[in-house]
Amino acid sequence: MNLTIIQLRTMHLNDCIDLDQKSLNGLWTRSQWQRELTDPKRIALGLIEIETKKLLGLCSAWLVIDELQITFLAVHPLHQRKGLGKFLLSDLIKRSKSLQTNHIHLEVKENNEPAKAFYKAMGFKTVGNRSNFYKDGSDALILKKESLNKS
Ligand SMILES: CC(C)(COP(=O)(O)OP(=O)(O)OC[C@H]1O[C@@H](n2cnc3c(N)ncnc32)[C@H](O)[C@@H]1OP(=O)(O)O)[C@@H](O)C(=O)NCCC(=O)NCCS
Repeated sequence: MNLTIIQLRTMHLNDCIDLDQKSLNGLWTRSQWQRELTDPKRIALGLIEIETKKLLGLCSAWLVIDELQITFLAVHPLHQRKGLGKFLLSDLIKRSKSLQTNHIHLEVKENNEPAKAFYKAMGFKTVGNRSNFYKDGSDALILKKESLNKS
């Protein structure tokens, strides 16, 4: 599989919504995706299969001072556990180093075991939790990866 990572734009809006539907049952609305793809303070990266031009993975984040907040990360359900999530997140970390980012943090549903295992494998540690964070009332764990510019 030949893959490339690109900065996503408004022209990818429908693909983002489709991948969000398939991987997280539609976490965000169309207008939230529109903002994600147009706000200059945000980074939205897409993992594209070159031959088919299909969006297989998607990661978005925004920078607050020296901290990168990951707001969305998903790999197409048919392509999970093939190293694509690692490829995408590693690329985001590489790019964020050049933005002088010192920490990355994110929230993950406390019962999302695959995602928790993934972030642990990527070096994230649990630093807190938020009660009743998601629409369905479940809690979020706050995960953090520290000192990117020292590694
Ligand atoms: C979380 C997610 C992005 C991981 O992407 P992925 O491409 O499947 O993960 P990778 O193949 O790169 O996995 C890298 C490592 O993470 C760990 N890991 C990933 N998925 C795992 C799982 N289901 N169970 C246990 N460990 C897992 C493993 O250590 C894996 O390395 P290995 O395959 O050599 O053992 C993917 O499962 C996904 O899209 N889930 C649905 C959306 C979601 O929950 N997003 C997170 C919201 S915060």
